[in-house]
Amino acid sequence: MRISRLSGAALAVAAGALIGVPAAQPALAAPGAPGAPRYSAGAAGVGDPYFPDQGNGGFDVQHYDIAFAYDPATRHMDAVTTITAVATQDLDRFNLDFRGPEISELKVDKHPAAFTRDGQELIVTPRPKLKSGQVFSVTVKYAGTPPVITDPDGSLEGWVPTDDGAFVAGEPQGAPAWFPGSDHPTDKATFTFHATVPEGITAVGNGSLVSQTTENGRTTFVWDSAEPMATYLATVTIGNFTVTESATPSGVPIYTAVDPRLVTQSASAVSKIPDIIEYFSSVFGPYPFSSTGAIIDRAPNVGYALETQTKPIFSSAPSVGTMAHELAHQWYGDSVTPTKWSDIWLNEGFATYATWLWTEHTGGATAQQTFNNSSNYGRAATSSFWQTVLADPGSVDMFGSVPYNRGAMTLHALRGKIGDTAFFKLIKDWAAENRHGNTDTAAFIRSAEKASGMDLTAFFDVWAFQKGKPASW
Ligand code: TRP
Ligand code: ZN
Repeated sequence: MRISRLSGAALAVAAGALIGVPAAQPALAAPGAPGAPRYSAGAAGVGDPYFPDQGNGGFDVQHYDIAFAYDPATRHMDAVTTITAVATQDLDRFNLDFRGPEISELKVDKHPAAFTRDGQELIVTPRPKLKSGQVFSVTVKYAGTPPVITDPDGSLEGWVPTDDGAFVAGEPQGAPAWFPGSDHPTDKATFTFHATVPEGITAVGNGSLVSQTTENGRTTFVWDSAEPMATYLATVTIGNFTVTESATPSGVPIYTAVDPRLVTQSASAVSKIPDIIEYFSSVFGPYPFSSTGAIIDRAPNVGYALETQTKPIFSSAPSVGTMAHELAHQWYGDSVTPTKWSDIWLNEGFATYATWLWTEHTGGATAQQTFNNSSNYGRAATSSFWQTVLADPGSVDMFGSVPYNRGAMTLHALRGKIGDTAFFKLIKDWAAENRHGNTDTAAFIRSAEKASGMDLTAFFDVWAFQKGKPASW
């Protein structure tokens, strides 16, 4: 589901990856067959500047149906994923992204299809071939142990076994560990998960719990994520969990799953979920999904949290601030998603600034005091912190302090420059106009200029595009 077609095209152009763009139809169709299909291979990636293999050309995914059984004791998965997609060119071959275990069968619609694998590329030859505009399904059957993926910065993601299940996280490249797909943030889709685990273990996915049925010592959890979701935000995290269901004051259902060993330490952060959602709804606009919650697991080798859609996942007991950060991402990151990974500050800077606002709202330091402190503008001009460009930090520093702290500082400085009225209208409109879509820094600058009526070229130049500690803006 490509909501924002324009920015998708902009990405291909920016990355110089024009292979994904269908060539103009040459006037060479066979006589008597105007518009005869011209089959070619879909592009292997969408040309992301940091992860060029991610995503695929030639089709748009609409829905993933991911069904698997997993046994934490043996770490064995038996899975069938069915992808529903629409062809965007005449295809005689296309790629999926997949790093998972051995495939025993692959079908396009009802027809067995030949396939090969090369790194994260799963190359499929559909027969019959696919015509542009055609809706088709790809069914992939696979079994084995899904891999742990190591990121450019050395951290772990993908399918990370824990002592009672698995911690499942996919930012920026872990989703293909456990399901084949089009793993770029621009190809959002709806998801249904059917996870079968030993009785007593809970499998927690994005969205709403449709059913939970136990038979012969195994429980199947069906989760439905009805709003479009980027693949990196998908999870089905598995373990021993204490589950609580409630709702926010305005009626958004809350599902929390907490490792029993972490219930006491997590109590304060969990108890704040309704207040955080209500406060952010008042500042950022309506909560963008039909449910919320949290998954608090024990995965000490992971060490970070992730804003998995509707239910952020934590690898240890979170502070209230970390809970606020991950819930803020539901607006900025999950609903409004960058078109390319180099714009990661649109996620991390916004979520960080949201926690500054939450801290002030709850009687702590003001946003201005946080801006000034030694983790932020108070850093010495000679600090290496100032030597990373906000709007292109590099894949190793995507989750380093610059997208977070310089990102939040940029928003606070912008607020000072354009005033509270324009600023808070801007960030609310930004969430509404890009709801469930993809966008980029250039679009944010245009929106900020529109909201303020000011020329902000020089402002964003010093804050977002240049190295160095901004001295005036
Ligand atoms: N996006 C996460 C957050 O800020 C952090 C994160 C995701 C991360 N993947 C990562 C941090 C990989 C380090 C490495 O909440
Ligand atoms: Zn974050």
